[in-house]
This record gives sequence, structure tokens and C-alpha cells, in this order.
Amino acid sequence: MKDNFGRRINYLRVSVTDFCNLRCRYCMPEEGVIQKPHHEILSLEEIFEIIKCSTELGIDKIRITGGEPLVRKGIISLVEKISQLEEIKDLAITTNGVLLEKYAHDLKKAGLKRVNISLDTLNEVKYKEITRGGNLNNVIKGIEAANEVNLTPIKINTVLIGGFNDDEIVKFANLTMDYNIHVRFIELMPIGHASKWAEEKFLSNNIVLKKLPNLIPLEIERGVPAKYYKLPNAKGKIGLINPISNHFCTTCNRVRLTADGKIKPCLHSDKEIDIKTVIRNDKTKLKETLRRAILGKPAKHHINENGYKPIERDMFKIGG
Ligand code: 5AD
Ligand code: SF4
Repeated sequence: MKDNFGRRINYLRVSVTDFCNLRCRYCMPEEGVIQKPHHEILSLEEIFEIIKCSTELGIDKIRITGGEPLVRKGIISLVEKISQLEEIKDLAITTNGVLLEKYAHDLKKAGLKRVNISLDTLNEVKYKEITRGGNLNNVIKGIEAANEVNLTPIKINTVLIGGFNDDEIVKFANLTMDYNIHVRFIELMPIGHASKWAEEKFLSNNIVLKKLPNLIPLEIERGVPAKYYKLPNAKGKIGLINPISNHFCTTCNRVRLTADGKIKPCLHSDKEIDIKTVIRNDKTKLKETLRRAILGKPAKHHINENGYKPIERDMFKIGG
């Protein structure tokens, strides 16, 4: 369906857990998080029911996120159920890749189409530092496994962090020379408890264009936040996702479902619609609640404006 600004909303991002097996500095508090009581988190059945209902309003694209979605028990069967919904044309997952070697085969079999893998550095020591303890080798093996079972095109999401990975832009870009992957550089967004840190380390994506002067711009794709480029003779593509320096709100096609049962019409707004209570107490209102959430989607974010206050909910409780 269309929202109040004429945007066709067809994309639902579903966070299935706010747990994560990493502790990225821009996302998770160092001490981790206290596990929420079971009943505060949507069950997989409830998540599925909300997704199914959303298809009646025109949602045809689902992305499963977290926290880290692959730590949620039963995730494979959820993928399987979603992939069997006729209306769903695209089903993908965003993962840190740590458990991908273990699950790639089953995910493919369950009907998953592709994966986005978050990876901010190609250096083992730096990886350990930014994720507070992660092992880069697991992710590399995960990427290889995803490639083997054809969860493609594989997209690598790299958040640009000033003074941390600006020196690796060329190295990341060169991955596209030999492999048909999409490397996408994402601007660091001020979100949740780490928003101040993010503001300090923010780097405009323009730096990628400066470091790679021979990038060839590709045609703009509709409903895709990334602007794509290619290195001459490369097999893969390079994407720039500029939520801050050049926001894409006017073509935004998405809403989000959080693991604790809220619909978030916009990532950068604290506005949330409680859908958990609705699904538990009065299912007849489910569709209406989803419709209300879509109609409540703000026109745009206000990050670049004076006096902007970052949203309170942390990224691991939203799912990117
Ligand atoms: N800014 C930009 N991207 C972020 N992610 C997490 N926090 C932020 C942030 N503050 C990214 C992760 C992952 C995806 C889920 O969102 O690196 O790629
Ligand atoms: Fe986990 Fe992703 Fe947050 Fe890193 S950015 S702590 S991988 S949810």
C-alpha cells in the first residue's frame, strides 16, 4: 500500500532477536544486554502471523535481521514458512556471518534467496577490536559457504568509521574485481547509546569516490538505497549508502518489526506502534494496526538539522 506521501511500502524488515554473538562498538554496549523475559519477545509463530498479514497490505519483500538473526532458535523453519508465502518475492537475511558456515546450506534449502554480511574490516586484529572479540576467520568461512550454496548476490555491508577503516576502502573495493559480490559502504548513523561515538567517527561516503576515482556509475535502481558503481573490468559492484549526506527518504519503501513487537515506520524516529499487544489480545485489529503504522511513516529524517536528537533504541534492537 501507499503511505501518506505516496511512497509504495512493500518491504518489511523483521528483527527476530536483539541478541548478538558480537559486540560491535557502534552498536552494542560492552557488557552485552540482559536477556528479556521470554514473553516480551514475539514468538516465531507471532512473527510469521504478522508477516503473513503484512502481505495483505502489499508487503512482498522481507529481510530478517537481529541482533544476530542466526542465534535465534528455530530461524530455519521461520525462513521456510516465509519462503512458502506466495506473495513474498524476495527473502533475505542480514547477518554478521559468524554462524553462516554452519547454516548456509540449511538456509538455502529453506528457501532463503540471499545474504547481506556485515564486515567492517579485513584485518583480523582490527576485526577483534571493532567487534570486541570476534574472529574474522569465521566470517570468511561463512562468506565462502554462502557462495558455495548460491545465496547470491552476496552483499558485504561495510560501515565507514573514521580513523578505523578509511585505509581499507581500496582493499574492500578490490574484492569486487575477482568475485561477483556487492561491497556496500554505509555511512555511520547516530543511533542509540553509541550516537555520540558515531558522530565523532562519521565519514561521508564521498571519501570512497575520492579514493576510487575510476569508479563507473551504474544506472540508478528503484527502491534501493545504494547508488552503485563498478571498477573497470570488475565482476562485482560497489554501492554507496548515504543515509546521512544524501538521504533517500523520498523513495523509502520500508517499515520495521522489532523483536519486542513494535512496528517502526522510520529507523530515525522514536515513533513505534505496539503490535505485540494487538496480536496477543485482538488479532482482528492486526491488519488495521499495520495499516496505521504505514500511514504514520514520517516524510523524512531530521539528522542533519539543528537540535536533532538521536533515537533512543539501539541498533541491535532494530536490525539496521
Ligand atoms: N550506522 C550504520 N550502520 C550500522 N549498523 C549497525 N549500527 C549502525 C550505525 N550506527 C549496521 C551493521 C550491519 C547492519 C545491520 O547495520 O554494521 O551491517
Ligand atoms: Fe551484532 Fe550487528 Fe550489532 Fe555487530 S552491528 S553487535 S554484529 S547486531
